[in-house]
Amino acid sequence: MPVITCIEDLRVLAQKRVPRMFYDYADAGSWTESTYRANCSDFEPIKFRQRVAVNMENRSLRTTMIGQEVRMPVAIAPTGFTGMQHADGEILAARAAEKFGVPFTLSTMSICSIEDIAAHTSKPFWFQLYMMKDRAFIERLIARAKAANCSALVLTLDLQVLGQRHKDLKNGLSAPPKLTLPNILDMMTKPRWCMGMLQTPRRGFGNIVGHATEVSDLSSLSAWTAQQFDPALSWADVEWIKQRWDGKLIIKGIMDAEDARLAVNSGADAIVVSNHGGRQLDGALSSIAALPAIVDAVGREIEVHMDSGIRSGQDVIKALALGAKGVYIGRAFLYGLGAMGEEGVTKTLDIIERELDLTMAFCGLTDVRKVDKSILIPGTWLT
Ligand code: FNR
Repeated sequence: MPVITCIEDLRVLAQKRVPRMFYDYADAGSWTESTYRANCSDFEPIKFRQRVAVNMENRSLRTTMIGQEVRMPVAIAPTGFTGMQHADGEILAARAAEKFGVPFTLSTMSICSIEDIAAHTSKPFWFQLYMMKDRAFIERLIARAKAANCSALVLTLDLQVLGQRHKDLKNGLSAPPKLTLPNILDMMTKPRWCMGMLQTPRRGFGNIVGHATEVSDLSSLSAWTAQQFDPALSWADVEWIKQRWDGKLIIKGIMDAEDARLAVNSGADAIVVSNHGGRQLDGALSSIAALPAIVDAVGREIEVHMDSGIRSGQDVIKALALGAKGVYIGRAFLYGLGAMGEEGVTKTLDIIERELDLTMAFCGLTDVRKVDKSILIPGTWLT
């Protein structure tokens, strides 16, 4: 086992252990991947003010996100197909998040179902909802999330149409993988992944198969899903959701101050500044570049979260300094999961926590709730 010291080490290990079509699915961005790259590279020019001879004992990363106590302001982002990075991936990630003390968000497009997660955890988790044309199906999903005691609904609005990822098309992505010769050869070099998949029951898109009337098995799933994302989605649909969900509502996929204002008007409790990890609109701003204008517009009225491009604790604290109340990690936890299962997700969280804690100390602060723009060198972030 190589010595793992950073998220990049987990990425390299995941690439070795996860079959290529699933690794590529997690890692890739859309079209030229310019937004995907900018999500990470736009953090780099942002510089900290280093402080010395300040008492840095007794530091705390504890805070709240939507009123919920968190050990650090980092949540696990909703990701589809997660159970293909590692057998029972969603259950393992949810357990790691619960033990660590940060929120876990289950995707509509997950392999393990809402009920699977509820059965393997003891605290409420968050459920991410895609608005689909079949509104009766959405009503049943919301009822299932309520029955599972989910403490927040994360409504993702940036997937009315699908960004194209070249690698997925070239790899012929499917779950379970099509047994073509290249796929069989690739899987033979990934024995840990294959053994894991063989040892656990195949769950197969548990939020959808058996719950949407037209979908009885995995082969009818992709046709149904492809025509279910709703290009006609509007703010009236958010109101429709509000009438059916009385818990916390987080709106994800906001990249524009005008949309942020509309989200506030819709009665959301929080928004997530997110470009879906660079998987949707290629050519959009990076999330960290979009964040300051959105915080300026609505930050006094609503909690602003962000994701896309977070690979370190340094990234987390930069986002907090620019006004985010918390961030979500997508690929950073997927790499950990693909590399080492539950232990790998814990490793991801440990690495980010340590980096966040030490960076905060270098900036002369001991309480994460006090992080603001004053820890940054003025003019080093995009406005
Ligand atoms: C996603 N994302 C996502 N978002 C969502 O609301 N529902 C989903 O099902 C998915 N699925 C998904 C799959 C994979 C493999 C990835 C990488 C991402 C987007 C996700 O929630 C988050 O916005 C990004 O992952 C954040 O970017 P980073 O942290 O991956 O750079």
